[in-house]
Amino acid sequence: MELPFAESWKIKMVEPIRKSTREERVKWLKEAHYNVFQLASEHVYIDLITDSGTGSMSDRQWAALMLGDESYAGASSFFNLKNKITEITGFEYVIPTHQGRAAENVLFSHLVKPGDIVPGNSHFDTTKGHIESRKAVALDCTIDEAKDTQLEIPFKGNVSPEKLEKALAENQHNIPFIIITITNNTAGGQPVSMENMNAVRKIADKYNKPVLFDSARFAENAYFIKTREKGYENKTIKAICLEMFALADGMTMSAKKDGIVNMGGFIATRLKDWYEGAKAFCIPFEGYLTYGGMNGRDMNALAVGLDENTEFDNLETRIKQVEYLAKRLDEFGIPYQRPAGGHAIFVDAAKVLTHVPKEEFPAQTLTVELYLEAGIRGCEIGYLLADRDPVTRENRFGGLDLLRLAIPRRVYTDNHIDVIAVALKNVFDRRESITRGVKIVWEAALMRHFTVQLERLG
Ligand code: F0G
Repeated sequence: MELPFAESWKIKMVEPIRKSTREERVKWLKEAHYNVFQLASEHVYIDLITDSGTGSMSDRQWAALMLGDESYAGASSFFNLKNKITEITGFEYVIPTHQGRAAENVLFSHLVKPGDIVPGNSHFDTTKGHIESRKAVALDCTIDEAKDTQLEIPFKGNVSPEKLEKALAENQHNIPFIIITITNNTAGGQPVSMENMNAVRKIADKYNKPVLFDSARFAENAYFIKTREKGYENKTIKAICLEMFALADGMTMSAKKDGIVNMGGFIATRLKDWYEGAKAFCIPFEGYLTYGGMNGRDMNALAVGLDENTEFDNLETRIKQVEYLAKRLDEFGIPYQRPAGGHAIFVDAAKVLTHVPKEEFPAQTLTVELYLEAGIRGCEIGYLLADRDPVTRENRFGGLDLLRLAIPRRVYTDNHIDVIAVALKNVFDRRESITRGVKIVWEAALMRHFTVQLERLG
């Protein structure tokens, strides 16, 4: 008999978690104004709000932490990190930052000017924020197929070459660079194929434009290339990473995802101009160039994390766990963005809570119901997150309305995954009786989902 699949690690340290009663959860969620960001983490049993900064470090990472060099300038930890990044990406210049959005802030301060257009595939909210706050436009050129949650294609995160070519042909003079997000978080943790990256590079070269990778989950993207794209079956993840990054001029990185550290990020590039420009903003915003917002110990742990997470076994364990959740949801007929993404399952709330009108935020309603059911904290990636149109101030109901269940790396076992699946099934089974959603009672003008206060209707 063939042996079943199992994790490529064993557990050396544990952290207790606590279940709660439904009565407790009803009270806590009301106090949190039906916004799960406002819940105390002690009141959460299984936390799927994000996979960012929530992973478990390995024994090697903890050991590296103890050897951190906290010198202000020229720390050995910086060189450990820089050398590892250069080995994995081929980029010569490295600037550490405290997290991914800080890398965006530093680099975009140099690159983005008012009136610019930055085309890409579903820019992440902070990326979009750093473009829009500079009075520029983040132009989404993701393939249309990404919007059909039930369509199963291997590289649903791709850039549409036609949309990109059109953007460049029309706005050649105010496009500072093209951005590719790997994997495409907003479209459901969906990967971008090597073929697509090559197509983007070709168009970029035609118009003489640089390409930036938003690389938060680049290793997961490389795993999908290895397992789904012809010709890559026998290549190592590290070889695939080098090939991917050879198609870019630089990267911004949130190390809290595929770097498997709790805090950190960086900019890496082969362009001297980007490096020189970013340096000038790193010092006032983040810190001196050899720490830029990170501790020596964290840079050391990140160097090890990057090395470990560009190995196949580690990635296989992770992605198979996300796939396992997808399989359980398939058993129950629960619709999600197909196929399963790299870091999360995105439940299609509009297809589950069909009686809740969009004005009452179905995905947020599902988030509330799942927490009340079992103390599981997901995150709405839908109409609340989409904010209002800056001009009309109307809610933006044009996109998808999803509940994201993000799986932290090396944290939960498949038993926890079973609890998540069954809790969601219990909500799904009573979906016909859920006819009312939530109403906004207070909201911020921008990025309202973090602080919005809601009332439960019905
Ligand atoms: N780019 C992508 C694709 C991201 O998913 C994130 C963060 C960032 C940039 C910003 O990085 O948080 O280190 O400043 N995503 C988290 C999430 C917050 O939950 O998906 P950061």
